[in-house]
Amino acid sequence: MPPSENFEPRIAAFFCNWCTYGGADLAGVSRLQYPPNIRAVRIPCTGRMNPNFILQAFRLGADGVWVSGCHPGDCHYIAGNMFARRRFAVMKRLLEYVGLEPDRLQFSWISSAEASKFQQTVTEVTAAVKALGPSQFLRKNLAEVA
Ligand code: FES
Repeated sequence: MPPSENFEPRIAAFFCNWCTYGGADLAGVSRLQYPPNIRAVRIPCTGRMNPNFILQAFRLGADGVWVSGCHPGDCHYIAGNMFARRRFAVMKRLLEYVGLEPDRLQFSWISSAEASKFQQTVTEVTAAVKALGPSQFLRKNLAEVA
């Protein structure tokens, strides 16, 4: 069943403090318009991103999760973003395994100077999650286990 026209997804967004969070800030200061569907959580590095954060976000009602960090070679902790990229690929497969559409999880590289890329990516992530409709599966499943 296609999602209703009025559906507005809730997206948990985990941003690296050193890059994407700055890009989001710059987009705000520059008054760039973008969909208001994200709830930003600042993390010290995408390498700090525990896969459990992603599962908890879905369990607590997120329709999508977006993780964004420094470009390859720019991570302040050398390779945290590369570890995150590797975990991300595994998480996509895990989501598929538990019955969630892998596209509910998005990953990007955005620097603190890329306000327009931030604006464009928020729009794309929101559209991708909106097209999938509300996420119910993981919440229902974990409620049955509890
Ligand atoms: S410091 Fe930004 S991803 Fe590692």
